[in-house]
Amino acid sequence: MLMRLDKILSAAGIASRSGSKALFRAGRVTVNGAPASSGAGKCDPETCEIRVDGAPVVYREHYYIMMNKPEGYLSATEDGRDRVVTELLDPNLRARGLFPAGRLDKDSVGLLILTDDGDFCHRVISPKSGVIKTYLAECSAPIPDFAPRRFAEGLTLGENMRCLPAELRVSPSDPCLATVRLQEGKFHQVKRMLAAVGSPVVSLKRVSEGGLSLDEALAPGQWRELRKGEKELILLGGEPLHLNI
Ligand code: URA
Repeated sequence: MLMRLDKILSAAGIASRSGSKALFRAGRVTVNGAPASSGAGKCDPETCEIRVDGAPVVYREHYYIMMNKPEGYLSATEDGRDRVVTELLDPNLRARGLFPAGRLDKDSVGLLILTDDGDFCHRVISPKSGVIKTYLAECSAPIPDFAPRRFAEGLTLGENMRCLPAELRVSPSDPCLATVRLQEGKFHQVKRMLAAVGSPVVSLKRVSEGGLSLDEALAPGQWRELRKGEKELILLGGEPLHLNI
């Protein structure tokens, strides 16, 4: 698809469309080896070799980021009071308007995907897509033996909020620790489900979405772009829920 050169540079996070004028004027931008004098010229970013000061321009239609969300940040793009996860991104990515694909509570940590691809975001969070999210939960009271069955049957929270069947596996070595696997993302869902069986959550970490696990090389607050195949792994991969308890 043909695109304006200044749009390609802006989408690649190199310079705004107005800011790139000086780069073109100074002959610092080349397309297939020849200097491009104006951002109004067009080329196909998939097939042309565009360089700025000799360095290749990596164009992406959309960005997909894996973050190890730290405690104390809201899963939001702005907030009048609290810090938000997009503050942890580079300014050029922030300027592209990336947003979290799903939420983790302020005090929850772990895998958070950020993107500027609204369709992808919808597919990750819609229960219809069946993207299973896996959490490690630590509770302040031992999780009772009946809890896995209640999760598998589908808990009702409050008066009438019916949850889809979910998997709960209690650690064999610590009855206060569990892995929870959900096929939906209601507000505070893991905390509310565990509280409903008498085990309030004291810490919560999301460790995978679909078939993609958090890259443990990322310290809290760090992020990286998804690698080839990882986006598909979120949507297609992952073990089905084990509900025969
Ligand atoms: N469930 C919760 O209760 N909190 C989260 O942050 C994510 C899932």
